[in-house]
Amino acid sequence: MHYRIAVIPGDGIGKEVIPASLKVLDAVGRKCGFELAYVPFDYSCEYYKATGSMMPKDGIERLSDSDAIFLGAVGYPGVPDHISLWGLLIPIRRSFQQYVNIRPVRLLKGVESPLRNPGIIDFMIVRENNEGEYSNVGGIIHQGTPYETVIQESVFTRMGVDRVMNYAFELASKRKGKLASATKSNGIIHTMTFWDNRFEELGKKYPNIEQSKYHIDILCAQFVQHPDWFDVVVASNLFGDILSDLGPAVVGGLGIAPGANINPEKAFPSMFEPVHGSAPDIAGKNIANPMASFWTAAMMLEHLGEDHAAEILMLAIEGVTGQRKILTRDLGGTATTTEVTEEIIRQIEQL
Ligand SMILES: NC(=O)c1ccc[n+]([C@@H]2O[C@H](COP(=O)([O-])OP(=O)(O)OC[C@H]3O[C@@H](n4cnc5c(N)ncnc54)[C@H](O)[C@@H]3O)[C@@H](O)[C@H]2O)c1
Repeated sequence: MHYRIAVIPGDGIGKEVIPASLKVLDAVGRKCGFELAYVPFDYSCEYYKATGSMMPKDGIERLSDSDAIFLGAVGYPGVPDHISLWGLLIPIRRSFQQYVNIRPVRLLKGVESPLRNPGIIDFMIVRENNEGEYSNVGGIIHQGTPYETVIQESVFTRMGVDRVMNYAFELASKRKGKLASATKSNGIIHTMTFWDNRFEELGKKYPNIEQSKYHIDILCAQFVQHPDWFDVVVASNLFGDILSDLGPAVVGGLGIAPGANINPEKAFPSMFEPVHGSAPDIAGKNIANPMASFWTAAMMLEHLGEDHAAEILMLAIEGVTGQRKILTRDLGGTATTTEVTEEIIRQIEQL
């Protein structure tokens, strides 16, 4: 098999962890007998500084014939964060109907949780990725006066809510059969009661799934106190975004947290990106943890149907974390990005 992958390293550590991941992907490809053709794209904040936009006018179209998009991170001191989000990530997620954002939270072998008794932590956050609170509907009037008024609307559609919830129910039915919904319908009485009603309604089709709902505030507390309770958690765009930094924090941090923006119908390419940002504080030092990108690459392989390759890559990742010898600083080690990459490749070749 031959796959065409659009590669957007982006900014900061994206330019370190993505090239490292391509070497790892090539090693898995050699092992499992498939080839990946990488098409590089320089869309980034650096591109914005030079041209005034995050990508060319036909930037989305140029990505459209790829089998998947592999992205590092965007963000650059001096470029406001809403520029990189609204100029690149959100247009890709929306144009390609990547309405499901999946972020696995699992305590890998050898990785220490900051919790004293973490138990078994293995759950998936399914975040709505196309609408919700991340909307550009709204505006500002009387700017700069004492009457300054700002309105930001949330957008929840039945189609948008149903499709992400259905995805989460299906995912739970393939896992341990438990689905929790993140809500805040006590305070946000229109959109969140709608969210709850749709959850209840759609849940009737899944009598075998254990269903629960939590207000977002207590859910955050339970992620810390009882992370072992969860199997699949479905959340709106904003709540899912927050939960998917909190979840990884209890299993070792952003350095290992993977993510995927999925178009489940496969009508458009899906995009795979680690949860972390461009980490300007450590960029250019060869100390970023590439594991988040490697795990993200494994999710991409699974999406492409290369399940065996994805398994091999995960075995190599846990082989390295399990030994606790070659780890980057965020996981308590002293190894460089390059050393972790070389060790992963060595393990892949040995498996
Ligand atoms: N998807 C994306 O492209 C994305 C996501 C989040 C933030 N950002 C952008 O990234 C920039 C920095 O944002 P931030 O500081 O809030 O978040 P960040 O994820 O870049 O960094 C947060 C902290 O985690 C550390 N960290 C992150 N990834 C790491 C890794 N792989 N290995 C070791 N340590 C790691 C960083 O050093 C930093 O201390 C901003 O411009 C922001 O907009 C982009």
